[in-house]
Amino acid sequence: MRKGDSVSISEPPDALSPPPQEGLAWSVDESPLAIGSRIMPSRYFLAPLAGYTHLAFRRVIRDLGGLGLATTDLVHSTMLVAQRPKSLELIATDPHDVPLSVQIFGSQSREIIRAARWLEDQGYQGIDLNMGCPMAHINGQGGGARLMCDPEGACSLVGQVVSAVSIPVTVKMRLGWDSSRITAPVLAREFEQLGVAAITIHGRTRQQGFHGAVSLDGIRAVVEAVNHIPIIGNGDVRNAAEAFQMRQATGCHAVAIGRGALLDPWIFERIVRAARGEPSEFIPTGAEQVAFLRRHFHRMYEQHAELSCLQFRKFAAWYGARLGIPEDLEDRLRRFESMDEFEIIVQAIATRHGERTTSVPTALIKVPNGPVEHW
Ligand SMILES: Cc1cc2nc3c(=O)[nH]c(=O)nc-3n(C[C@H](O)[C@H](O)[C@H](O)COP(=O)(O)O)c2cc1C
Repeated sequence: MRKGDSVSISEPPDALSPPPQEGLAWSVDESPLAIGSRIMPSRYFLAPLAGYTHLAFRRVIRDLGGLGLATTDLVHSTMLVAQRPKSLELIATDPHDVPLSVQIFGSQSREIIRAARWLEDQGYQGIDLNMGCPMAHINGQGGGARLMCDPEGACSLVGQVVSAVSIPVTVKMRLGWDSSRITAPVLAREFEQLGVAAITIHGRTRQQGFHGAVSLDGIRAVVEAVNHIPIIGNGDVRNAAEAFQMRQATGCHAVAIGRGALLDPWIFERIVRAARGEPSEFIPTGAEQVAFLRRHFHRMYEQHAELSCLQFRKFAAWYGARLGIPEDLEDRLRRFESMDEFEIIVQAIATRHGERTTSVPTALIKVPNGPVEHW
């Protein structure tokens, strides 16, 4: 397979079905969690998914309830400082899009620090440093996961960013470069000393890419390495039971969910309800799901107008499979050119959804695949 090919991700047969054994069966701390000076509305966060977790998506997910912190897609610090339109688009937000952190990356410390200062000056309230990205073009310049191989450089960068701003600085990383270089625990300890407010840990190495099982032991080692800062576990959580299992097995203080939120946008509300011991088995009706699709597009349109017709293509297959939209309608979702046309399609979806089998999509979220050296 080539870069960008779709691969299946493991999930229950129907991610919208209630998971077994949720709620009171688990004993996890749900008291309010602070990250720096910010109190999180819940301990279930949206992990950044470049190309998906834009403002419109964050807003519609927030409207469903249950979401704690959200993070922007990764933004290149040099491009941000240069105020490139694409970068400004990536950090677009509004007063309802809180709490939010902006994730930055780059190969030049100076530019990363400048970007962090600029973000603080603009009123952003949290900065997340990316040390987990496995893409070769980012690692090749010393950024993303490559930083985990250079503890001295990573610590120097983190220390400088923390000193440069007064808003909380967090780090998102993997377990290490490969199984022989598991550097996350030692880095987490150092970062805590340097004043990092929290760390998100994706329980895979860079070498694993998106393959293999998430190591709960690996996440636990990071939790045990720090004294007081919150550790956010991440990887392959698809329902409340898996979120609670990750928390219980690792002791992590919160869980970040990426692809699981695409598969089931109600996942955050479902988890917080389950945590309260309330019924969380609701299955959104077709009408609610169509309304979600419509709100999603409308929010995109507010930001990008006609351009959003093009941008929505990415979501067509996902909505098609989720809602059991017949193929001719899914195809139209990929080709419409105006809001009027979109509304006509949505009308048709509202009456014809369910014509196709509504198995939740398995292969619709593209991740880099094949040997990581070729990404
Ligand atoms: C399409 C895609 C885009 C991603 N973009 C980012 C990103 O911009 N920044 C980041 O730190 N991680 C990114 N990730 C990694 C996710 O945040 C997350 O760590 C990973 O997908 C595992 O969590 P999940 O199983 O809940 O999705 C991306 C993953 C995917 C599949």
